[in-house]
Amino acid sequence: MKYNFDEYINRKNTNCVKYDGLKRYFNIEDAKPMWVADMDFKTPNFILEDLKKVLDYEILGYPEVSQEVYSSIISWYEKRHKISNINNDEILLTTGVVTAISACIEALSKENDEVIIQTPVYYPFFSCVQNNNRKLIINPLINEQDYYKIDFKDLEEKITPKTRLLILCSPHNPVGRVWDKEELLQLCKICLKHNIIIISDEIHSDLVFKPFTSILHLEEKYINNCVVLNSPSKTFNIAGLNSSYIIAKNEILKNKISVIIKKREIGNLNLFGLQGIISSYTKGEEWLKMLLFYLNENITIVNQSLNNKCNNITFKIPEATYLLWLNFTKVEDSHKNIFSRLLNKSKLALNDGSTFGKEGEFYFRLNIALSKNELIKSLICLNNEFN
Ligand SMILES: Cc1ncc(COP(=O)(O)O)c(C=O)c1O
Repeated sequence: MKYNFDEYINRKNTNCVKYDGLKRYFNIEDAKPMWVADMDFKTPNFILEDLKKVLDYEILGYPEVSQEVYSSIISWYEKRHKISNINNDEILLTTGVVTAISACIEALSKENDEVIIQTPVYYPFFSCVQNNNRKLIINPLINEQDYYKIDFKDLEEKITPKTRLLILCSPHNPVGRVWDKEELLQLCKICLKHNIIIISDEIHSDLVFKPFTSILHLEEKYINNCVVLNSPSKTFNIAGLNSSYIIAKNEILKNKISVIIKKREIGNLNLFGLQGIISSYTKGEEWLKMLLFYLNENITIVNQSLNNKCNNITFKIPEATYLLWLNFTKVEDSHKNIFSRLLNKSKLALNDGSTFGKEGEFYFRLNIALSKNELIKSLICLNNEFN
């Protein structure tokens, strides 16, 4: 087989936060890490080989950003997302998506302005808003038996003249939704009506099990009211390279963001990060297809295992991401105890759902991007404790 997702790679002592940060984050060393959103699969060889070629330069001086970086992003969007009109000057490179969210908040709003997020959601959304001295407005998602929807009524009720931005997680981490075109349209209409700019974090847009719609697929007036943030880092397992980009088709927004990128000095990607973008987007299509197939199989394994052996833990099959939002409400125990049992009895380190917002109580996020063998071993430990 060309790509072997069954291969086990020992990540301990490789300076990776998922394994080597266990002590710091969980105060434990012998648990199986199934938390941070990177994968236990080997970064594909076509990327590793290109990175080794960078070492062959033998001098690692300041890089020049080549046209290939921009072309690879543009052609990836054309091929994969059928979005064909992106130009070089609409792309801003940044050293991470979270970094970019924070910069966009500074660029597109003022201190004490209100910023909406839709919980439960990726926890840096909270801190990016608060650290920039903006007011956090929570628009919780509607939870219909673990299928989550946007609460448009609540959204409209919470908007005030001070509301400037909405940070959209699209697809959504941790609930695994790929927003439908109709939902996106409704959201965009409300935001445009109230002059609220959408920061659309689309970092999971390639890890989808149904067709993905970006705001960039919608009408021009909505595209002009948003900025899109993305990176190949989740898809191709290169998060450690810290490379990402913003697509801003509205020149006014783009210029404001450029000023902040310069001010914060966050636009200089390193040699490896730049190469990572090129290699991922020019060589990654086939690998991604295989990855999605494997992830889908892993999701089925978890589903069958819990259905058969542990039906008091439930989840909705995700439409995107390799992160499962496990619901423990049927387990008759407190959230704190469940967390402790996961860690100390099952020896599994999952993300604590409550860090994604208060709606995450009794939920824990499971990362299933690992070999089937390892996944099955973890499921046995989970089932033994919670069946
Ligand atoms: C929605 C979302 N945005 C951003 C990131 C992180 O992006 P970066 O590592 O480029 O800051 C993650 C990582 O899990 C994520 O899930």
